[in-house]
Parts: sequence; C-alpha cells; structure tokens
Amino acid sequence: MTTDHRPPTTDHQLSSDAQVPSSVVGGQWSAFAPGKLILCGEHAVVYRRPAIALPLHDVRAVATVAMSAPGSGITIDAPDLGRRWLVDGRPSDPLSELVVAALKHLSVATYPDLTISITSNIPVASGMGSGAAVATAVVRALAQFLAHELPADQVAALVYQSERRFHGTPSGIDNTVIAYERPIWFQRTVDQEPKSEDQRTSSSMAHGLPPTVDFITIAAPLALLIGDTGIRSATSLPVGEVHRRRQAEPARYEVLFDSAAEVALGVRDALVAGDVSAIGPLLDRNHALLQQIGVSSLELDRLVDAARSAGALGAKLSGAGWGGVMLALVTPNSCESVTAALQAAGAVRVLSTTVAPIQR
Ligand code: PMV
Repeated sequence: MTTDHRPPTTDHQLSSDAQVPSSVVGGQWSAFAPGKLILCGEHAVVYRRPAIALPLHDVRAVATVAMSAPGSGITIDAPDLGRRWLVDGRPSDPLSELVVAALKHLSVATYPDLTISITSNIPVASGMGSGAAVATAVVRALAQFLAHELPADQVAALVYQSERRFHGTPSGIDNTVIAYERPIWFQRTVDQEPKSEDQRTSSSMAHGLPPTVDFITIAAPLALLIGDTGIRSATSLPVGEVHRRRQAEPARYEVLFDSAAEVALGVRDALVAGDVSAIGPLLDRNHALLQQIGVSSLELDRLVDAARSAGALGAKLSGAGWGGVMLALVTPNSCESVTAALQAAGAVRVLSTTVAPIQR
C-alpha cells in the first residue's frame, strides 16, 4: 500500500506547542487525548465549507506504552474493544499501520518490543471522535516513550492517515481539533470525494493542499448538553450516502452546503462577540440543513425536539449522523429541564460540558 504522508498542515503558523498530557509511571509511558464535538458544519466540511469543532475534555482515550519481553514484538491491547493483537500479525489493521507510521516518523529503524494498551471512555461511532482520540493518544504515547516532542501538526498528520483507513475520506477536522485541543475553524481547500477502496489507499487521492485551520475566540462560556442516542453508526456510511446524493443532485447539495457555510460564519461571529443567544437559532438552522442533507434520524430528531421544547437555545445533531449524539445549547436555568427532557426522550446518556472563554 502506498500512503500519502503529506500532512494537513495549517495555512498560517499555529503554535505547535500544544501540551502533550502524559506521564511516566514505573517504566510505562501514558498519554491521553480528548474527544471532540462538531459545533456546526459537519458533512459540508467534506465539500470545502467551513466547520467549527471543539475539544471535549470530559471524555478521553488513554494509551500506555510498556516495554515487553525481548523478541515479543509490538502488541496492541485494547480491552474495551475486546481485542489484542501483534502489529506484525495484523499489519493492515489501521492501528497497526498507525504504529508503524509513527515509529517511522520518529526515525525508529528497529522496532522495539512493546505493549501498547488502549482504553477509552469515548463511545465509538457516536460523533465524539473516538477513533481520532485513540490514534492521537497512541502517537503521543509512542513519542513520549521515545522522548520525542511531537508538535501538534505532526500528530494530526499521522492521525489523519489513520482516519483515512477507517473512514475513507475524512475532512481532517477530527484529528486537527483533537491534536490542538483548542476550538477551531476548519476548512478544506481541496474537494474531497469519497472513493472506492482501491482509490482510498492510493497516494493519488486528491487531498494535497493544506486546510485552513484557525483557533477561534470564544468570548462567553457555552453550556452544552450532549445527548447520546445510543445508536452506533460508522461515519463512512452517511458520508458515502451524502456523496451519492450529491452526485445525483449536485445543485441542490451545493445550496445546502453553502447554507451550512453561512451558519458557520454566523456562529463564528457570535462566538467572537460573546452573543450566545444568537448561536441557538443558527444551530437549529444547521440541524434543518442536516435533515435535508439526509443524515438525521428519528432518534436524533426526537432528542433535538425534546431539547428545544424544554428550553434549549438551540439544538442539532453533531457528527456524521444516523445515530450518535446531538448537542443542545443551554443556559444555567434550562440545563436541568433539558437534561430531564433528553433522558425522557430516550437519550442513553447526557453529558454536560461548558466551553470556557478563550482568546484566539
Ligand atoms: O461522526 P464523526 O465524529 O466522525 O464526524 C464526521 C464529520 C463529517 O463531517 C461527517 C465527516 C468529516 O470527515 O468531516
């Protein structure tokens, strides 16, 4: 397989000194990575429209690297997934490929004998960035083990390749927001079409130009509730369906994506101005667009409606859709009633998070 190692670098110089949270305990090197939430612009972001994503520190993936017996090779142990395997034994597993790519990037000529243990409390296939967080934690832990400071853009680039193996045509937003751990404005500069399996693993895939990545100012705290439908849906399925629908109705989909871009611009302005109440209707509009794009579901709509009826300022699905999570923007007054409404409407869990103000 040929892989494309061009990193999705930024078009301006972001500081690449994102703290690498890690610790060394008794010959073990641990690192973690947060989940993520797409505030607006999912799906349209695959087609070069801007989107806004937030790191979600309330959930996280942890990777721990420990030396193992000489000659034992590299073992990946993921008890949450019920999987344990040798990298050599399953070289085409996306995580095996990630480990090999990371070691190569870190200039390791001879593979060490290691066990890489992975745990995560981020629900898989739920729109919270589980795959990218696991991959980020693994890359960070390997870098720590090798006493190598890996800048966030390089971590993001390595994880992007791994995301491509899982999802075929990721926009790059997940790996970027998780690597930088900052709210970001993200826009691809190259159209990215879902491809056949052969083309997915080909270096000829058109994704060469760097995306625009900008840290975003958040002038006032944002209180969000995340309602989980409990339905797991692989990102590639709705992404592939959107691709098919867009091919069938290009003009309609261009209009929908343009409208999503307008929403993202409005949300960014409101975030910068600290005008939280202006964000609610924009989230509602984004959900309506995602319904028209074809990626909502009865369960997501039920949670979104329940949140609004209970006093949320706005609500929308978040991530790829057809399952996974939705988010609701709430106030201190409505937080409790919206939480109860989400639970009554079938949310298997409700997470409360506040995005703290941050200057760009
Ligand atoms: O469901 P998630 O968390 O993988 O988010 C997917 C976001 C999409 O815009 C639908 C796809 C992408 O790669 O940006």
